Amino acid sequence: MEKPVFLIGFMGSGKTTWGKKLANALSVPFIDLDHELVNKIGMSIPEYFQLHGEAKFRELEKEMLLEQENRVGILSTGGGTPCYFDNMDWLLSHGTVLYLKHSPKSLFNRLSNSDIQKRPALQGLQGEALLAFIESKLNERAIYYDRAHIVIDQINTSLEDLVALVK
Ligand code: S3P
Repeated sequence: MEKPVFLIGFMGSGKTTWGKKLANALSVPFIDLDHELVNKIGMSIPEYFQLHGEAKFRELEKEMLLEQENRVGILSTGGGTPCYFDNMDWLLSHGTVLYLKHSPKSLFNRLSNSDIQKRPALQGLQGEALLAFIESKLNERAIYYDRAHIVIDQINTSLEDLVALVK
């Protein structure tokens, strides 16, 4: 593997879980951009959103992305990373971009079972309101996500398929 692989996709699409598995199978490092960010700011993402607002978070996220320039391995991004500034162009020109695509309903089921508190955008949302939010946000972000080099329908793709795709 000469170039990094960037995993992109909506919150709850499995970027971190699959990123770890993929890195392990390929014996390359795994880097979680959200994790790097939390280490840098010394607080959780919801805390940062509350203190400084989303616009500041997006700037910081972009800075973190630029710092990954010479990294090798599997890199998972935050759900919004490709959708701000020229981040998607940067990702496409610095590695292989893989989109873990899910339907809104599938994301809804996955997010309903996850720790919503960790995601500032989802706080206070559940049931119909959560599904409506996912539908509209995904609709807004699809123009970025769909530009990925490889689009994966995760439900019907095995780890072996993924490994073969990015090897
Ligand atoms: C966000 C997704 C989160 C995190 C932040 C904002 C988003 O990452 O970067 O809470 O706008 O979709 P995950 O996709 O890893 O949850």
